[in-house]
Amino acid sequence: MAAKIFIPFYSRTGTIEALARAVAEGAEAEGAEVRLRRARELIGHDIMSSVPGWKESAEAMNARYPAPTAEDAVWADGIVFGTPTRFGSVSSELKAYIDGLGGLWVKGALNGKAGAAFTGSATPHGGNESTIISMFNPMAHLGLIIVPTGFADGAMFKGAGTPYGPSVVSGNPPSGPTPEELDVARFQGRRIAKVAGALRALNG
Ligand SMILES: Cc1cc2nc3c(=O)[nH]c(=O)nc-3n(C[C@H](O)[C@H](O)[C@H](O)COP(=O)(O)O)c2cc1C
Repeated sequence: MAAKIFIPFYSRTGTIEALARAVAEGAEAEGAEVRLRRARELIGHDIMSSVPGWKESAEAMNARYPAPTAEDAVWADGIVFGTPTRFGSVSSELKAYIDGLGGLWVKGALNGKAGAAFTGSATPHGGNESTIISMFNPMAHLGLIIVPTGFADGAMFKGAGTPYGPSVVSGNPPSGPTPEELDVARFQGRRIAKVAGALRALNG
């Protein structure tokens, strides 16, 4: 049976959305069934309206993706979290979704599933690695088996991504992932699908 991969992400201007879609493509290339879900806004309309394009971009993505639910996490064999870097860490929007998983944590419902993370920052030294590693903390609490990218594919040797997870250096305003960054994300999608399928067979 195909592995089930759940990709809950937050993206405000489309960079992380593009990376999420590349992770999904990689997982689907391994035969996985994929759910892409976008965490919803937490900040007020005043802030969302303060930068041209933010509100419109968020609304367009909300039309494309349902919000992530706890049931999605239970359904999945592997969960890949995606977030823009916010001051060197995870966005509050994605974190709010994760913080809603306490009911599953108490039951150990996610123990033994595969987990991974990806991110983007505006600048090369803006905190991509620290953001991904910060997401490893709740993943460990939830009992996920964390799957880093490592240097386990040729895509990792072309100056894109991190050994912790795929990443984008988007610039400001964001100009989207490069082909090399998308290749790392596709590789991670293939890798998580393989590991998630193997773990499901192991867990029974
Ligand atoms: C409140 C806020 C905090 C941010 N913090 C950082 C940061 O610490 N380092 C960085 O390089 N970029 C930072 N950024 C830029 C975003 O992480 C970056 O543009 C990202 O690629 C946007 O992804 P998106 O297009 O999917 O929304 C920040 C942006 C916002 C709005």
